[in-house]
Amino acid sequence: MTGQKVYIETVGCQMNVLDSELVVGALRKHGYALTDSPVDADVLLFNTCSVREHAEEKTFSALGRVRLRKHANPDAVIGVLGCMAQKDQELIRKRAPYVDMIVGTGQLAAVPELVAKVRATREPQLAVSLGRSDAGRNEVEASFVSYDPTRDPTMRPTPFQAFVRIQIGCDKFCTYCVVPSTRGPEQSRPPEHIWHEVRQLVDQGCKEVTLIGQTVNSYVHEAGDRRTRLSDLIAGMHDVTGLERIKFVTNYPKDMTDDLLNAVRELPKVVKYLHVPVQSGCDEVLKRMKRNYTAGYYMDMLARCRELVPGVSVSSDFIVGFCGETEESFQKSMELVRAAKFKNSFIFKYSERGGTKAAERYPDDVPEDVKKRRNNDLLAVQNENSRADHRAQVGTTVEVLVEGPSRMSAKATHITQLTGRSMADHIVVFDGPERLIGHTVRVAIKDASPFTLYGDVLTDDVVGADVSREPSASAPVPARPNKFSLPLV
Ligand code: SAH
Ligand code: SF4
Ligand code: F3S
Repeated sequence: MTGQKVYIETVGCQMNVLDSELVVGALRKHGYALTDSPVDADVLLFNTCSVREHAEEKTFSALGRVRLRKHANPDAVIGVLGCMAQKDQELIRKRAPYVDMIVGTGQLAAVPELVAKVRATREPQLAVSLGRSDAGRNEVEASFVSYDPTRDPTMRPTPFQAFVRIQIGCDKFCTYCVVPSTRGPEQSRPPEHIWHEVRQLVDQGCKEVTLIGQTVNSYVHEAGDRRTRLSDLIAGMHDVTGLERIKFVTNYPKDMTDDLLNAVRELPKVVKYLHVPVQSGCDEVLKRMKRNYTAGYYMDMLARCRELVPGVSVSSDFIVGFCGETEESFQKSMELVRAAKFKNSFIFKYSERGGTKAAERYPDDVPEDVKKRRNNDLLAVQNENSRADHRAQVGTTVEVLVEGPSRMSAKATHITQLTGRSMADHIVVFDGPERLIGHTVRVAIKDASPFTLYGDVLTDDVVGADVSREPSASAPVPARPNKFSLPLV
């Protein structure tokens, strides 16, 4: 059907951002155009996250708003995709009976077909995986939405940055977490598929790839007697001409092997940044979380990261107020965050999730106000460290891949303030011409806030390209019609 418009809202992690890109790419193939206005849309999609209750409530309130659209345009197709669709079909049907399709994480490739079915029959469509235990590896393999060259570059964070899924699912089963049930068993993609996809992305003008997996450093692919680890995978794409940066998220502390750290140090295109969530500084809490390491193990791992990759930036996640977290155990997280000197940390209040082991075994016994206070206390220490980390960069020169105008500049009128990230993942803001967007430039850092570095671009010093002789270098600022909510996690 041509002339039809699709609107999509995305919450959750990078997996969801990539899934939305793939779904829109598939719909484009069927003649759909993307719109940023729900009012214009013939198909309204919500790609959802279940990791915390807050994320789910966000989706339910969006669905509440969209109900009005359904009144105005009864032919509009409303779809709920992703993790909530996988986990809570019944609840969605109950709370939002006007939803026309519910599509799980493994069935996203079927979205165009399901939209057509809804249109033809006006019957609600449900497509979700069997339970995790029933989900045969083949089902999961078949559900891989593989790279499609028509996937929509305008859905990407920028035209020169893309996510590449190297692994799906998770087998770690941390007791608080829904991801193993919403994303199924852990499975690593064959390296050839990934390398091919990276080459295609680079051919499309992509300069930075972020390899994504729930525990990305657990990546291992075995075929016959060949074993490919993450370090091998990265080495195998490193020399693709035109590729400038390789990132990978998120790391599991127990799988941070020396071969990977050596690759991060040795390979110049690999970003010197590791996101390795610790979750808690208390051994008893870590045990109840089933993280399989102690705080001491984590700190030793951190020391190894810093020894093998000098200057590496490390960030973490914490959960505060997990079941049975006493004041004493919380103070251990405070001690750890003080000592660890993370570049930044994402701190979450524990949110009990139905179906998890924690919900089954342990009462959610830390009151909300205590969770809130602990969140603030931990954040205050982290912010001090972030400030120190950023201040330590003042006086240095960093290489920045310029992503676009900064948010400040988007509001202001005259000066173009640009933003991008350094090789150590620091956000850098500086004044410069828009033609630098999409290029790597050197910036002398003059000032710092806890979250941003400010500096002066060293002009005529574009790394790896002569911008002055390249009229096409004034890359248009990408339209971002889909609504991102990043980083929610
Ligand atoms: N796979 C990644 C991230 C998973 S979800 C990893 O293991 O590191 C992202 C973050 O959300 C987690 O690191 C954790 O800090 C947080 N999180 C997960 N489940 C949660 C819950 N039930 N309540 C609060 N935070 C949670
Ligand atoms: Fe969830 Fe743990 Fe898997 Fe991360 S490693 S996705 S926190 S179960
Ligand atoms: Fe959320 Fe699903 Fe990602 S639960 S964090 S969108 S894997």
